[in-house]
Amino acid sequence: MNKVKKGFPKNFLWGGAIAANQAEGAYLEDGKQMSTADIKARGFFGGIRRDADYYPTHKAIDFYHKYKCDLKLFAEAKFNIFRTSINWTRIYPTGLEEHPNEKGIKYYKEMFGYCHSLGMKVMVTISHYETPLYLVDHYGGWDNRKFIEFYMKFVKTIVDELKDDVDYWLTFNEIGNAAVKPICWDAAGIDPESKNLLQRMYQAAHHQFVASALAVKYIHENAPLSKVGAMIAYKTVYPYTCDPKDVEAAENAKRKEYFFSDVQVRGYYPSYIWKYFEDHHINIEMQIGDEEIIAAYPVDFITFSYYRSRVVRASEEEPSEITTNTLEGLTNPYLPKTAWGWSIDPLGLKLALKDLWDRYQKPLFVSENGLGATDELTADFKVHDSYRIDYMRKHIQAMKEAIEEGVYLFGYTMWGPIDIVSNGTGQMSKRYGIIYVDLDDDGNGTGERYKKDSFEWYKNVISNNGESLK
Ligand code: BG6
Repeated sequence: MNKVKKGFPKNFLWGGAIAANQAEGAYLEDGKQMSTADIKARGFFGGIRRDADYYPTHKAIDFYHKYKCDLKLFAEAKFNIFRTSINWTRIYPTGLEEHPNEKGIKYYKEMFGYCHSLGMKVMVTISHYETPLYLVDHYGGWDNRKFIEFYMKFVKTIVDELKDDVDYWLTFNEIGNAAVKPICWDAAGIDPESKNLLQRMYQAAHHQFVASALAVKYIHENAPLSKVGAMIAYKTVYPYTCDPKDVEAAENAKRKEYFFSDVQVRGYYPSYIWKYFEDHHINIEMQIGDEEIIAAYPVDFITFSYYRSRVVRASEEEPSEITTNTLEGLTNPYLPKTAWGWSIDPLGLKLALKDLWDRYQKPLFVSENGLGATDELTADFKVHDSYRIDYMRKHIQAMKEAIEEGVYLFGYTMWGPIDIVSNGTGQMSKRYGIIYVDLDDDGNGTGERYKKDSFEWYKNVISNNGESLK
């Protein structure tokens, strides 16, 4: 009997993913107020600045007004799923209002309805790096327990109002980044320069675990047809050498990342984390009932972003922060790199899928993957991005092989199907899209959209359900 699964399953979900703050613009329109993303200036993790001359998210690519044209292009590329986030500050502009902003609800209702009318399912990230700035300014970050309450008010509103328009919910984008400097600002509103940073970051993560479990509970009880997933940032880890010390260092690094999915999927703090907490003087304050809530409401499925792998060595101090634009630790001599220094490692994706499947046996979904590159728009408005096609082909091939090797994978949303503002650098010139947007790093340009060569290629792949990747 041959039980090998050949190719992608029949109902495989193919599409693209964006975040509201990186695409919508209209940052103060229709009642919206500032989020944590809106004070990030340009440059590596922008710096949290109140006095910059330019903030890329304020205008972004104006998806807020242009979504119909953009979604039509996604439908033309045969997407059957679209992932985006709901910008919290469109629904609760400061986070403290008693009643939600009707205009914000209307916007998402219409946009999601439009997706469905075009044949695309909707996956929503509830919190994707856009916490109301007012809350952070007045209550600190997610290490303040009050954020569970603020978040749940937001969750209840969007679930009550939009449950018929959303197919999949993700509770927090890349939840583990709550404990990584400087992206803890994005993920948890924690100032990366604050004192007792590790303590603050892990306390914030604890509150997000509780909030995530409460969101799962609420969605299951009130929108029983939709599923709720985790979203983690996955970077396949390799030991620098076969020296057992390096292998152990790599295992420790893996555990630090798995901690977040372990809690969300298994429903409890893994025993290994207590030693890490002890060694780093981290003392998590839990309230009675927290552990029960986390245990009772694990996620239904796991999604993850995958861009690159990394190398770990015992003699190097494990980096506790992202220190350069490359996000890389040690260089892997076997792998090419992008212009932004990220390793290109399709096999790392296959390993990620196999590892996650073996560890959890929960349905998997690749919710972000792609190549950030500089593109050139030719005089006849073409973009010949064979490098992007090559990147995507190899990563999709890796998923196909993982499926053959027994992994249960049900969907793939490439990152930034239309060029958007980079989260890490605020650049427009770091482009991921199969659709080019004519805007530069200063926001100058026509804003016109043009299909790149990768558009036709991805459309063909989706049309034949990944059978041929030519
Ligand atoms: C992920 C984030 O970490 O990586 C996205 O969820 C982000 O918001 C993406 O845009 C790519 O990173 P960057 O820095 O190239 O935009």
